[in-house]
Amino acid sequence: MSNCIIAPSILSANFAKLGEEVDNVIAAGADWVHFDVMDNHYVPNLTIGPMVCEALRKHGVTAPIDVHLMVEPVDRIIPDFAKAGASIISFHPEASRHVHRSVQLIKSHGCKAGLVLNPATPVDVLDWVLDELDLVLLMSVNPGFGGQAFIPSTLDKLRVVRQKIDASGRDIRLEVDGGVKADNIAQIAAAGADAFVAGSAIFNAPDYRAVIDAMRANVAG
Ligand code: DX5
Ligand code: ZN
Repeated sequence: MSNCIIAPSILSANFAKLGEEVDNVIAAGADWVHFDVMDNHYVPNLTIGPMVCEALRKHGVTAPIDVHLMVEPVDRIIPDFAKAGASIISFHPEASRHVHRSVQLIKSHGCKAGLVLNPATPVDVLDWVLDELDLVLLMSVNPGFGGQAFIPSTLDKLRVVRQKIDASGRDIRLEVDGGVKADNIAQIAAAGADAFVAGSAIFNAPDYRAVIDAMRANVAG
């Protein structure tokens, strides 16, 4: 399996000093910036949009920005995020009327495309679109809030999706989002994940590097 990706979710960062928080977490060894976009419609919370993504780029952030859209509908906002400097854009199939079209829209703007599965979303939704994807993001909590507990059934689902990805023969990242901590990341990696979103586990800790190093060490076993 390719090297693991640690993607801190800035949902748990201090928004009053976001640029500094992102600089610090990248300096502490993070690979991607996970950027949670919530619209108070698809999910019961409201966060940040393309202007904040653009502001991070202008601030000098060069790391990949992993945009997780929890908005409905998705198509109108995709070009805005691409122009704002998003690297990867992922969306929930329930939030798009035409999933394949939304994937193509993301790719046509030069970004990598991901599909996000909620805890109760069946994996079959991947069957006729997997070959178009760069990333599958499995939610291990219900979307909307940081700091929730990891849902254990995600481990079985990860194994199923890992098999599908391996059978496809394509280089598709399998990312997990929600309740990921240094003390459960080994199990999550063993079930097939190779990219890990962590919000509260990193940003609520006094030493970002210590948590990221512990996560990487536990993935490596
Ligand atoms: C939840 C978000 C997650 C969240 C993860 O809707 O998509 O990215 O910030 O936070 P933790 O790691 O605290 O569960
Ligand atoms: Zn997320």
